[in-house]
Amino acid sequence: MLSSPSQRLLWRDLTLFDGTRQLDEPMAVMVEGGRIAGVWTEQAFDPALATGAVEAGRGGVMTPGLVDCHTHLVYAGDRAREFEQRLQGVSYEEIARNGGGILSTVRATRQASEEQLIEASLPRLDALLADGVTCVEIKSGYGLTLEDELKMLHVARRLGELRPVRVVTTLLGAHALPPEYAGNADGYIDLVCTAMIPAAAEQGLADAVDVFCEGIAFSPAQCERVFQAAAAHGLAIKAHAEQLSNLGGSALAARYGALSVDHIEYLDEAGVQALAAAGTVAVLLPGAFHVLRETQQPPIDLLRRHGVPIAVSSDANPGTSPICLPTLMANMACTFFRLTPIEALAGMTAHAAQALGRRELGRIEPGAPADLCLWDIHHPAELAYAVQAGRLRQRVFAGVITHDR
Ligand code: NIG
Ligand code: FE
Repeated sequence: MLSSPSQRLLWRDLTLFDGTRQLDEPMAVMVEGGRIAGVWTEQAFDPALATGAVEAGRGGVMTPGLVDCHTHLVYAGDRAREFEQRLQGVSYEEIARNGGGILSTVRATRQASEEQLIEASLPRLDALLADGVTCVEIKSGYGLTLEDELKMLHVARRLGELRPVRVVTTLLGAHALPPEYAGNADGYIDLVCTAMIPAAAEQGLADAVDVFCEGIAFSPAQCERVFQAAAAHGLAIKAHAEQLSNLGGSALAARYGALSVDHIEYLDEAGVQALAAAGTVAVLLPGAFHVLRETQQPPIDLLRRHGVPIAVSSDANPGTSPICLPTLMANMACTFFRLTPIEALAGMTAHAAQALGRRELGRIEPGAPADLCLWDIHHPAELAYAVQAGRLRQRVFAGVITHDR
């Protein structure tokens, strides 16, 4: 059944993963007015509470709606040819230095209209939704002009109007140096700081600002200028850092109070300590690790030891992670990085929401927005254990059943 916003909905006999842990007993969950109205053990559930409520389901595993906290979902074209080159031994960096990689997607995205970008991006968004996503972050970063960056952000916002999903947008102007600024990276960073960030903030098109701090992208000093401009305009900060080398970008971002630093395969203990001190989330992107055939492991044990919250995300993008199956990311976070299945699920719910500064999401607790998934499985760990599309029985967005099998 699909439901209407006015209905009070009730699920019984659930195995519940609440965003941080699995509950030991069978549970009941009620939803009303877009929010979670109550969570009870079956034993403590008073049948009088069911009066006037529609029983929406019985049994199965309920989790918060998945939060995909790092995607580059909006782009035109594809990079299949580059994939073939990489299989023949050409590295991601070499391709980038020869004007391919991110810049090849920039050429295609600049040429595309908003309508064309929507048409190209909707199937990817629909794939995420079909696998349980109820909140997705979408970055710009394939425009690299003021106009094209704003175009991408506008498309991202429109996607959130076209589908039942919360879209959080991030300006990633400092993703790559566009050819017209060759040899003048500082000049391009001026454009990001004095034109892109102010415009995106003023027009309400960005919730956060991101950078790519890397040898093939921008230096820590350049990223710092971007963080200063973001802070001056009241925008949250994120960073692609320590993906291919250790430049200290994560610690720098943490000093500016970053919500998250993402990739972090090359992060060292000093960097981990900086994240812990700042309350910055470490976002793991196993899809990019897989596609780049990376062998450097992110410092999982150090993150655990220092109590840094770990999130897991798809990084859906045409170059390093052309994968729109979030539950596969849970699987890869476990197989590649040895996260426990419960850590991986927390990484795609409560911790991912924290990485977006949306701590009210990604949890099943009274008062929280009612974004929920009911899965046809027996144990939450199955979501990470098996790789299988189509296990989502029901998807609830803002208290309304938007998908039912
Ligand atoms: O998250 N690291 C930089 N940016 C993206 C890749 C973008 C691309 O190759 O198109 C990432 O891996
Ligand atoms: Fe990314």
